[in-house]
Amino acid sequence: MGLLDGKVAIITGAGGGLGEAYARLFAREGAAVVVNDLGGSRDGSGDGSVSAAQKVVNDILAEGGRAVANGDDVSTLAGGENILKTALDAFGQVDILVCNAGILRDKTFANTTEADWDLVVKVHLKGTYCCTMPVWKWLKDNGRPGTIVMTSSTSGLYGNFGQSNYGAAKAGIYGFMRVLAIEGRKYGIRVMGLAPGAFTRMTSDLPGRAGREPDPLSLPENVAPGVLYMVSDLAADHTGKVLGVSSRGVREIKMLETEGFQPGRPYTAQEVAENAEKVFFAESQTRTAPVR
Ligand code: NAI
Repeated sequence: MGLLDGKVAIITGAGGGLGEAYARLFAREGAAVVVNDLGGSRDGSGDGSVSAAQKVVNDILAEGGRAVANGDDVSTLAGGENILKTALDAFGQVDILVCNAGILRDKTFANTTEADWDLVVKVHLKGTYCCTMPVWKWLKDNGRPGTIVMTSSTSGLYGNFGQSNYGAAKAGIYGFMRVLAIEGRKYGIRVMGLAPGAFTRMTSDLPGRAGREPDPLSLPENVAPGVLYMVSDLAADHTGKVLGVSSRGVREIKMLETEGFQPGRPYTAQEVAENAEKVFFAESQTRTAPVR
């Protein structure tokens, strides 16, 4: 018995990195998997090919699993619609969508270009929209429950140096996830956010990592079980939540408010300053968030 027996899962950007690890594990747990990837470069430039996705599919088939490749670009609605069509043509249904495809164009803000901004936001934020909309409509129109995982990042939730375009897109995905989790409740559609951490081509040259052998715990294979948990019925009670999944394990990341300064009458800016300890979290209350 697998955790995903009888389910059909679409995973975008699954020709390598984290998505590939999800695809392999989901297939081993009984899911039929659509492996989407346009086989692009890390910065999204150049022509891709479906061969990366096809290789993952071939390996899954060789292990006795069920999978089909798709080479569409997630960042157009036509691409998203065709990814759903691939799932329906091959397997007749969809139950799980993991929006994972992504690119990076890191630079300090002053050095970024409009083209960098547009492409990074397009692939991550619009790409999540373009893949979610067709699946959402299909689930709703067919009265089927489903689970959607949207990939955010601590770079968007907390901020990170040199990632203004990427952080903006990833924070946008967080807001998108929160809204759809609320809208999805009445249809039985769960929507979860994911902030992964793994050693992939996207992160292999980050400061402190370049040229070093990866810690085995930080390989995508060790993130995949956390994501399997999120899409399986084991997490059926959870929606609208972000899990950080990395070599550290699995943890919830949450937006919080302080009690605040609530005078219940008109107030001045000086009074806000005088009550700063009520307005802001004390450092001791925010210990777990990375300080950047
Ligand atoms: P990766 O670069 O190894 O994999 C991303 C895949 O997406 C590639 O195979 C690429 O061809 C595909 N892709 C890119 N643009 C596409 C498009 N328009 N249509 C279809 N496929 C496309 O990167 P990695 O590390 O596996 O990242 C996966 C996701 O996790 C991304 O959304 C990334 O932003 C996010 N993430 C990763 C972290 C990490 O530590 N590796 C940290 C935080 C977030």
